Amino acid sequence: MKNDKVLKKLIIYEIFVRSFCDSNNDGIGDIKGIISKLDYLKDLGVNAIWLTPIYVSPNEDSGYDVSDYYQINKEFGNMDDVKKIIEEAHIRNIKIIFEIVANHTSSKHKWFESAKKSKTSKYREYYIWRDNVNGGFPNNWISSRTGKSVWTYVKETNSYYLHLYTPHQPDLNWRNENLRKEILKIMKFWLNFGVDAFRLDVINKISKKDGLPDVAKNVENGYAELYFENQPEVHDYIHNIRKEIEKEYPNCLLIGQTSGVNTEQAYKYTLDEKRQLDLFLQFEHTDMDKGPLGTLKKFNLEKFKSIIFKWQKAYDGKLINTVFLGSHDLPRMASHYGNKDYFEKSVKMLATVQLFLRGAQIIYMGDEIGMTNANYNLIDDYSDIRTKDYYYKRISENEEKDEVFKDIQKISRDNARTPMQWNDSKYAGFSNIKPWIKENVNYDSVNVKKQISDDNSILNYYKKLINLRKTEEILIEGKTNEIDLGNELIAYNRRSNNKKITVIGNYSNKIKYVDLSCYGKKIIGNYKKCYLDKLMPYEVQVFKEVINE
Ligand code: GLC
Ligand code: CA
Repeated sequence: MKNDKVLKKLIIYEIFVRSFCDSNNDGIGDIKGIISKLDYLKDLGVNAIWLTPIYVSPNEDSGYDVSDYYQINKEFGNMDDVKKIIEEAHIRNIKIIFEIVANHTSSKHKWFESAKKSKTSKYREYYIWRDNVNGGFPNNWISSRTGKSVWTYVKETNSYYLHLYTPHQPDLNWRNENLRKEILKIMKFWLNFGVDAFRLDVINKISKKDGLPDVAKNVENGYAELYFENQPEVHDYIHNIRKEIEKEYPNCLLIGQTSGVNTEQAYKYTLDEKRQLDLFLQFEHTDMDKGPLGTLKKFNLEKFKSIIFKWQKAYDGKLINTVFLGSHDLPRMASHYGNKDYFEKSVKMLATVQLFLRGAQIIYMGDEIGMTNANYNLIDDYSDIRTKDYYYKRISENEEKDEVFKDIQKISRDNARTPMQWNDSKYAGFSNIKPWIKENVNYDSVNVKKQISDDNSILNYYKKLINLRKTEEILIEGKTNEIDLGNELIAYNRRSNNKKITVIGNYSNKIKYVDLSCYGKKIIGNYKKCYLDKLMPYEVQVFKEVINE
């Protein structure tokens, strides 16, 4: 059976498959490419890899629009490649995490194609249909993804279907029992293949409030999250899936993407008697500086700390966090939180603060070498549907191009989707031909090859951090306690009965005077020369103390 320790020991590496490694030089990352890098990942020290969706898809939303859950997108490889990657990963003690995108399908899925043609289709009830109300949309919900109605009209049946995301992604109707069975069948199919775990995409949104009522006029932007996030039935749906899966696959891990949850809801998903998920992904700390229309506000460390430690301490440390600072949906960690004048120091500091927190760790590909935002200068260089929709919406509202562009450069999801930077040869060693998306111009200075041979590199520092996480039991089990050392400092310890590991980081470009003499022996840090009374800009120091009774 699974136990919590397995979860707390996880170091998951997220791979945005299209951009990781192209084995056959068609400009698109693929499974064989990942296989060729498994030794690199083993050496980095991760014990699980999460692959973004690799199923057949028209690729309107980077594979988060699946048109066949049982087949692999040819661009990524075939079933033999899937077998092989599972086998090779397992040889290296690396678990494989697949995505289940079950809030919606692609509009090109055969279920939807049939459902939209006729009200009597066998698949009609797999989706959510409504007639017009007074000649208009069935309700006033606005998609927070597109900024437009969640409804799209279909002429054939004179009705509307619901989509929380783009019209290419019709929402599934989880009230339908047959649909629920289909999803279970898909999951079992891949478990049978040897997949170890699933990331359940936007799983807390699968159930919509009965009657789909209008949101009140004062609800911000008409977003209807309160009517489709964490609805009561969602817990039953996932619990039942889990129960069924556990009968045959007791070790399968379910990791739910649950944006917008609070600690009580997270408890309910993961620790309730009717347990549903093993792990949840919450985004309070990565979303806290999102401004209106998805712009980025100035980062506030105090707020960030209060969110991080609230989650670390929730339910006396019993809630198991997933800890991450980057993903395929977020800006690059180095660009979002780092300081370019103290680039290497600030990235190492962030990595230390992250990796010694309690919970399952997630490292987004490329963050281990400090990859940065794309910084494209032309809208045509961008590929992400969210970025394009956002750009054209603001342009249509007569906003200045330059202004819109400034925001896009900060928040576009493409920031984290540029090709992985393996070396300094053309196209960053990702492919021999022009990649599907432009590489970041800094690949000649920021790349794996260069960092492997440099003892002081960000990459080698990550390896040391991961190694410490594996050797210091307390970093797995110890409780997290925040230490308040004041502004621009972030500090905490992990503690058991007779051991303590303390992390103290300076999140500023100034020297900070702090007494560091009382925390024990230093075990790692990002500056060679250290002082016991001060921290240099973006310096982090970690101490270990053994208390002998
Ligand atoms: C999740 C994914 C994101 C996708 C969305 C819709 O948020 O991480 O990339 O666009 O779900 O499936
Ligand atoms: Ca390829």
